[in-house]
Amino acid sequence: MDQVHVVSHPLVAHKLSLMRDKHRSTQGFRQLLNEIGMLLCYEVTRDLPLEHVAIETPLTSMQAPVIAGKKLVLAPILRAGTGFLDGMLQLVPSAPVAHIGLYRDPATLQAVEYYFKAPADIADRLTIIMDPMLATGHSAIAALDLIKSRGAKDIRFVCLLAAPEGLAALAKAHPEVAVWTAAIDSHLNDHGYIVPGLGDAGDRMYGTK
Ligand code: URA
Repeated sequence: MDQVHVVSHPLVAHKLSLMRDKHRSTQGFRQLLNEIGMLLCYEVTRDLPLEHVAIETPLTSMQAPVIAGKKLVLAPILRAGTGFLDGMLQLVPSAPVAHIGLYRDPATLQAVEYYFKAPADIADRLTIIMDPMLATGHSAIAALDLIKSRGAKDIRFVCLLAAPEGLAALAKAHPEVAVWTAAIDSHLNDHGYIVPGLGDAGDRMYGTK
C-alpha cells in the first residue's frame, strides 16, 4: 500500500462526508466534487520538480522557481471523472485534457471502451487519470492499459473513494501507478458498489436517477 496516498486533510474529510449524505442535492454534490478535485490536485502535484528561471520583479532580478519540463495531462474517465476536472483545471489551467470513454457492463462489471482522445505528446507528460470511485478497479485498469498503449509512461491515479478490492486489483495490474484518494472504504457489495460509499457518483453528479 505504499503506492496509496490517503489525503486526510480535514477539509477533504468534511466535504466527503457532505457528499456521502443521500439527501445532498445534485448541485451540492457536483460543487463538492469540484472542490475536492482541487484539493486532490494540490496533493497529487505536491512533488512536481521545479527549475529556476530569471525574472525581473519591480525591485530587482531573481531566479524564480517554476514547474520544470513538459507538464501535466488531466485524464478523466467519462463520465464521473469529469466531476474532478474543473477543480483541477482551476489549479492547472493550461493542462491539456485526455478524455477516456469507458462504461461498465452491468452484467460482467467489465470496462468497455467507447471513446479515447489524448494529446499527441502524452508520452512526455505526467498523466493524471481521475475517476471518483475506484470500485472493482476494472475501469481504472482498462484506462491505464489504454493510456499506456498510447505512450503514457508517467501516470498517477486520483479518486475520491477506493475499495480495498479495487486498490488490490490496480496494484496487481499496474504496480508502479500511485493512487491518491480521499478515503478507503470497507468493501464492495454484490453489485460492485462501494460500501458505505456514496452511491452512483455519475448519477448523483448529473441527477440521472
Ligand atoms: N461506481 C460508482 O459510481 N459507485 C460505486 O460505489 C461503485 C462504482
